[in-house]
Amino acid sequence: MALSRTFRLNTGALIPAVGFGTWQSKSTTVKIAVDCALKTGYRHIDTAYAYNNEKEIGEAIANSNIPREKLFITTKLWNTFHAREDVQPAFELSLKNLGLDYIDLYLMHWPLAIRKNECLDLEPKKPDGTFDWVDIDYAEVWSEMEKIDPSKVKAIGVSNFSIGRLERLISKARIIPAVNQVELHPYLPQWKLLEFCKENNIHVTAYSPLGSTNAPLLTDPTLTAIAKSNQKSIVQVLISWAVQRGTSVLPKSVTPSRIKANFNDFLLPEKDFELINKITTRTRYLKPKGYPDVFGDDF
Ligand SMILES: NC(=O)c1ccc[n+]([C@@H]2O[C@H](COP(=O)([O-])OP(=O)(O)OC[C@H]3O[C@@H](n4cnc5c(N)ncnc54)[C@H](OP(=O)(O)O)[C@@H]3O)[C@@H](O)[C@H]2O)c1
Repeated sequence: MALSRTFRLNTGALIPAVGFGTWQSKSTTVKIAVDCALKTGYRHIDTAYAYNNEKEIGEAIANSNIPREKLFITTKLWNTFHAREDVQPAFELSLKNLGLDYIDLYLMHWPLAIRKNECLDLEPKKPDGTFDWVDIDYAEVWSEMEKIDPSKVKAIGVSNFSIGRLERLISKARIIPAVNQVELHPYLPQWKLLEFCKENNIHVTAYSPLGSTNAPLLTDPTLTAIAKSNQKSIVQVLISWAVQRGTSVLPKSVTPSRIKANFNDFLLPEKDFELINKITTRTRYLKPKGYPDVFGDDF
């Protein structure tokens, strides 16, 4: 048995199992990184308006000469564009930044809205330094996303959604989200959320699969032993584990040697897969400073 190369979304489209992350990849280096990723064989590139690198990623895509239909491009609606009148223009802006005719997957980045300011800052703050949260229902944001021209967006989905919010969204939605993109790695496996998404035909994509900046899982003793016995790197083990549990996965790197090495997932022996399933610590690495806890305990 080999690992899946793709997963099928509830739209019928295929999402590549191993994609490429670009958060914190600065506009100066991201072009080289995406160019390297595309040459290596990655076909799913994950970006977001808030990553401030859509333009450079679009240039790397255009330079690659890879036929558009062979690529899978994800970008995301930022928190300052949740007002009803802002959703469609925000989508069009991302499309323009990327220089594409359509996006494969457009995600609501967070179920949280921040008041937009005149300078279009990503995270405008109030004079006291706290976020200027606005009470906009994510279900209403979703209903605006549902109206985006389907010839310009092949699938819509969400990110950072808990079971409770997904349940509520589904009860009101016309279109069931194709994807929920969340933090997932062996310390935060979120089995309950995964099961809920499976039951509701929502594909799950794993972000921060190495634990994010500085990849904190790379010194774990269990993972070290498993990597050694399989003659693979820990990152290859982490990516393989993610694919083996049915999630697509988005390792990020700006280092060409790592970009190439990371794209080598393999089938983990069942006993190793089970051992990895036991090392959970419920540690969440991505907790943006000043954000409310949108996850709760239900994962
Ligand atoms: N939807 C959301 O809210 C959300 C949130 C977070 C992330 N994401 C998506 O998920 C992607 C991945 O998550 P992430 O960027 O947080 O972190 P990640 O992929 O878990 O880890 C990235 C870190 O690991 C390092 N790294 C990569 N390959 C390595 C290797 N072979 N050996 C040692 N270190 C290695 C990278 O360093 P170098 O780059 O220096 O090589 C970087 O410091 C993001 O880029 C983004 O596309 C989405």
